[in-house]
Amino acid sequence: MELPAPLRQAVDGLLEQTPQQALRQAARTLSDRYRAELRDDRLHMAGELAVKAYLAARMPATYAAVRASLDALGQARPDFSPETLLDIGAGPGTVVWAAAELWPGLARATLVEASAAARQTGESLAQRAGLGVEATWIDADATLDSPAGRPAELVTASYLLDEIAPAARPGLIERLWSLTLDTLLIVEPGTCHFSRRVARSRIHRLTKDADVPWEDEKFIFVAASRRPAASHASRVLAPPKTGSGKVALKLCRPDGRAEEKLLTRRDGPAFKAARRADWGDAFEP
Ligand SMILES: C[S@@+](CC[C@H](N)C(=O)[O-])C[C@H]1O[C@@H](n2cnc3c(N)ncnc32)[C@H](O)[C@@H]1O
Repeated sequence: MELPAPLRQAVDGLLEQTPQQALRQAARTLSDRYRAELRDDRLHMAGELAVKAYLAARMPATYAAVRASLDALGQARPDFSPETLLDIGAGPGTVVWAAAELWPGLARATLVEASAAARQTGESLAQRAGLGVEATWIDADATLDSPAGRPAELVTASYLLDEIAPAARPGLIERLWSLTLDTLLIVEPGTCHFSRRVARSRIHRLTKDADVPWEDEKFIFVAASRRPAASHASRVLAPPKTGSGKVALKLCRPDGRAEEKLLTRRDGPAFKAARRADWGDAFEP
């Protein structure tokens, strides 16, 4: 998975003007702050250099996670094609790019973001790379009581909740739901999770001092819709355990319960389907 080509070129264009050493140091600082889950009343992306470090080191991975989550949403709701998006904690605009690529009918987006540097970078990327969506950037703190932004068919918060004090999260989620006309999507770094392989560009590798041309982004998402999805297959919740003539699957069932299911050769086609199933797949024996 990679950023869309025009966005990638615009990102590279911005980063090429930045000294490599400074970018590397800023990426290290950003990564330390994320790892420490630091909440010191300062935004992780307070300045321009921190935003550039995010573009180089994190945006390709968060884009991949968001795109994969939107793809899963699109599979569950093939009829859903939002014209309006409200994205909270938008950063440099990761979600709107992913949503616009999946749904060409997306016409208007409201992007709420507290960091001026992130908003400016997001606006500049949208202009340089030709986003093709009417985007309005709002300077607001998403944790305050008054809802920032207009209701939209799709409301999203990607890699935001982890930066918010735990006590403020329930209220924030309530407000996001109240602004949701159809579907609310929340994406976060994973502990029990899905994974997507992300291609690392040259600048990405240099910024992280990394040799390997890819990395695996672990993420989790939840999508809540006001309209029921047409079908609910079970979903594979963990890497399947295979043994001689048997496969053990941990499944999330259509009714929401988790189930350990053991399939053996005697199960015939269901066993064959289980052998092909991978972590994160829908499973309909
Ligand atoms: C990890 S970044 C994620 C950016 C983007 N959503 C993505 O997936 O790449 C989190 C963003 O949320 C913003 N943010 C954090 N707390 C916020 C708040 N209380 N109100 C608005 N934005 C906030 C940060 O400035 C940052 O740009």
